[in-house]
Amino acid sequence: MCGIVAYLGKKEAYPILIKGLHRLEYRGYDSAGICLSDNKKLVIYKQRGKVSDLEELVKERDLSGHAGIAHTRWATHGVPNQCNAHPHYSENEDLAIIHNGIIENYTPIKQELLHEGRTFHSDTDTEVLVQFIDYIRIKNNVSLLEAVHLALSQVIGAYAIAIISKNDPNTIIAARKGSPLVIGIGEDELFLASDATPIVEHTQKVIYLEDGDIAEMRILPDGKAKLDITNLEKVRKTPLIHKLEMNLSMLEKGGFPHFMLKEIFEQPRTIRDCLRGRINAEQNNVALSGIIDHKDKFLNTRRIIITACGTSWHSALVGEYILEELLHIPVEVEYSSEFRYRDTVIFPDDVIIAISQSGETADTLAAIEKAKENGAFVYGICNVVGSSIPRATHSGTYTHVGPEIGVASTKAFTAQVCVLLMMALCLAKEKKTISEKRYVDLIDALCSLPAKLEQTLKLDEQIFDFSKIFTYSRNFLYLGRGYNYPLALEGALKLKEISYIHAEGYPAAEMKHGPIALIDAEMPVLVIATNKGSYDKIVSNIQEVRARKGRIISIVTEGDETVRSLSDFCIAIPETEEMLVPILASIPLQLLAYHIAVLKKCNVDQPRNLAKSVTVE
Ligand code: G6P
Repeated sequence: MCGIVAYLGKKEAYPILIKGLHRLEYRGYDSAGICLSDNKKLVIYKQRGKVSDLEELVKERDLSGHAGIAHTRWATHGVPNQCNAHPHYSENEDLAIIHNGIIENYTPIKQELLHEGRTFHSDTDTEVLVQFIDYIRIKNNVSLLEAVHLALSQVIGAYAIAIISKNDPNTIIAARKGSPLVIGIGEDELFLASDATPIVEHTQKVIYLEDGDIAEMRILPDGKAKLDITNLEKVRKTPLIHKLEMNLSMLEKGGFPHFMLKEIFEQPRTIRDCLRGRINAEQNNVALSGIIDHKDKFLNTRRIIITACGTSWHSALVGEYILEELLHIPVEVEYSSEFRYRDTVIFPDDVIIAISQSGETADTLAAIEKAKENGAFVYGICNVVGSSIPRATHSGTYTHVGPEIGVASTKAFTAQVCVLLMMALCLAKEKKTISEKRYVDLIDALCSLPAKLEQTLKLDEQIFDFSKIFTYSRNFLYLGRGYNYPLALEGALKLKEISYIHAEGYPAAEMKHGPIALIDAEMPVLVIATNKGSYDKIVSNIQEVRARKGRIISIVTEGDETVRSLSDFCIAIPETEEMLVPILASIPLQLLAYHIAVLKKCNVDQPRNLAKSVTVE
């Protein structure tokens, strides 16, 4: 939520910053802004809307400067307009700030500053912060770094900030608590960003700031770059330099019209990458180092709690079914936002699995902290290497699907389910809760997934054809049973988030307790009715819909004629193990949502009001 990028060095800052903003736009696109430092002046350009709107605004303007900060906003405090856009100046335009997060106690601070005669030009908590820093700096006659230290020690909330001063154009101060920041170390230049995507084309050397870190980034008079990191207690830290694994082609659309479509089509490869080095088909073995190193925690626990948000919460539900079936351990699934605030009972021998694509979701991070405070062991399943959640958890597994840029999650979901199954297989073998045959069958099924995903992607044209029929539907119902119930939730979420059609997912049997009242000839009902589990039961549910004239779109196993004959539209996917259907059947659901959204001319990669990385609660 909100993207931050900053540059300090010999080059012109503007082209680096604007490209960086494009890379970070998935984090928010309510407004965009930039501040360039030139000739002891801070020049801000900002605009409501997308980064392209900002580019339009600055055409023909003077964009010189070797230092600058830039921001793409997902609005929290204050409507998304020009004056609430970042960067924000302090009084007299001495300082400029960009911020990702929420300053919770901004109201009393603002009152105090108003009392001191300061004036405000926006409704944001961010402007209050920069004014507060400036006020402390002047009142105490201290350096900017010292003022940032003093201000942040009084601030409650979450932040990733970058501040630049007109009097010291060779310095940027950055700080984080609860929102991510990465520093890139180049040849006599320094970069700062919310994630590594704006940095990767300039340098592979990065430092991930930790909560409480305050970084002073400087270009010295001899042109060399200098970086000093201290914590809130002013203790100097020696940061660890990481080498980025990412490459540039991962961040481009690769010939597809949208990132989402590219990411849907990448899934045969991403599942292969996720399995690589973990599954050995010849030796019939699954090995996840994080699980092997901590197997006692899993084997001795009385229960597992999985916590996540959004799509990751749906993969958690699939995980519940997989882990209970293969391990015979009770599993609970909690929305992180509920887990963190309610009076949760956590035992020290609990194992908590936290799932997150971005590794930055604020509620999930808070849930992890709560679990740790109560002595539980926390295992992460994340995609973004080096993000906050993998660093906050005791151990974990990366999904390794590469950057997911489309706001609607696709390839991350399928890989999360894949990791959950590998975890369950590893542990079930240790626990002896799985027969050798079943273990081998499931390994085979996992290994054959990429080829089956490729086959399923060939359904794209068929799905596009009938998407046209449903483009202007106002509602959709998604039904599934067993492993396909969480998938029904995920299918409905995909449709509503990118096409703005109201859609609900339901366990098929629950339909008769309410949603059935909505069914008429106008209501498309998508039923995932693959051939295992409660197949006969779902056939009955389809009959119930038909009896009320609902239109059936079914996802069936190849060769199924029964459900096909009951359906208005039918999509047949390759046969696979029941617990792998959520992976395979995701493809038609993702494609259906995608095509409907494109036909409706919606912005598929950046749907309204949403953001990819939700770093506020
Ligand atoms: C946002 C995204 C979703 C994502 C959810 C959880 O709402 O738009 O696609 O599923 O956050 O994010 P996480 O990174 O924790 O998986």
